[in-house]
Amino acid sequence: MATRTSPAIPVAKRIGGFVYAIRNIVTEARKVEAAGQTVRYLNIGDPITFGFQTPPHLIEAVERAMRDGQNGYAPSVGILPAREAVAAECLRRGMPVTPDRVLITSGTSEGIELTLTAIAQDGDEVLVPVPTYPLYTAVLAKIGARAIFYRTDPGRGWLPDLDHIRSLIGPATRALVVIDPNNPTGATYPATVRRELLDLADRHNFPLLADEVYADLAFDGPVPALASLNPDAPVISFSSLSKAYLAPGWRAGWMAVGRTDRLDEVLAAIKKLADGRLCSTGPMEYAIVAALNGDRSHQEMFRVALKERAELTTRRLNAIPGITAVAPTAAFYSMPRVALPPGVTDEQYVISLLRETGVLCVYGSGFGTRPEDGFFRVVFLASPAELSDIYDAIGEFTQTFLSRH
Ligand SMILES: Cc1ncc(COP(=O)(O)O)c(C=O)c1O
Repeated sequence: MATRTSPAIPVAKRIGGFVYAIRNIVTEARKVEAAGQTVRYLNIGDPITFGFQTPPHLIEAVERAMRDGQNGYAPSVGILPAREAVAAECLRRGMPVTPDRVLITSGTSEGIELTLTAIAQDGDEVLVPVPTYPLYTAVLAKIGARAIFYRTDPGRGWLPDLDHIRSLIGPATRALVVIDPNNPTGATYPATVRRELLDLADRHNFPLLADEVYADLAFDGPVPALASLNPDAPVISFSSLSKAYLAPGWRAGWMAVGRTDRLDEVLAAIKKLADGRLCSTGPMEYAIVAALNGDRSHQEMFRVALKERAELTTRRLNAIPGITAVAPTAAFYSMPRVALPPGVTDEQYVISLLRETGVLCVYGSGFGTRPEDGFFRVVFLASPAELSDIYDAIGEFTQTFLSRH
């Protein structure tokens, strides 16, 4: 390798604010692996790595599209059949939108990034839940806008603190992010809370960004679209094939902009930005059509598997002295809390857990909670037998960790 003769080439300052702990923590796990320890990765919510399989009719749709020569650029908003399928799905869920208000995106992630870029700039504020899915804070840091955190309360099933949200709304507020069902807490919100959130966006005239990527994975069955309670509120909804259709690597997602004409300029701005990135992955857009118009029986089995794992997780974690966990009602995440002694951080706990047991979780402060509060996130997609071993390991480790501090 050539030796370096000149100073390192600098990177942009904004990189400092772009933190995505779910993947950043893998560097630490690789070191542990290099030292000969097996790592059990409970950091990323990817069902495929735990043996769940993409439905065959989706794979066939992509294969067929490729063989039929659909390998060129797609329209930047996405192919019409996919947008029609999304619009029909939104309508079934209670959010009436026309296909011209739908964009096909590279996962939920790209929809979020396009939207935040279209609506917020230097000094603008976006209300984000804490704990949060970290992409929101990372993108806001990148575009120079500010994430203003509102509390969600573990004492009340991780529901948003509405009074706190009201107290944070000001002239610089540009949007309210709502993740329901929620990552990292596994919570689902009742209609009363959803209605109040919609009212806030409606009255204050800022968009509610509804992250609905787990809408089909509530254990008791799919939840309606957030916008269904007020289809004329300014709501932008995001989802994808990543979770409920078991195809996260395809980067196939969509967004739907609510029907109110208050959102017309935002929609035009998002389409303008979408032109610049050409299109999402073309053949996978055909899988969106197959997914939303086709058989969904895999979801029923997936929900049953998740519910079983959630119950096991809640029971086993709450049985560990020093740990409390709220029962999730959706998705594949639990956000337990360990009562840490003064001066100890969630990151120290999680890194020690990794080094001593090979179990990799993500510390709560990676989702915006306070380091001293001791939250960490568990992805419970592994088999019940493996999860049981993992909770044995967490239990033993926690006992020694707490006794030596
Ligand atoms: C709440 C939430 N939003 C968005 C995403 C990103 O999903 P996608 O793969 O659709 O980009 C995730 C992925 O874990 C998520 O948990």
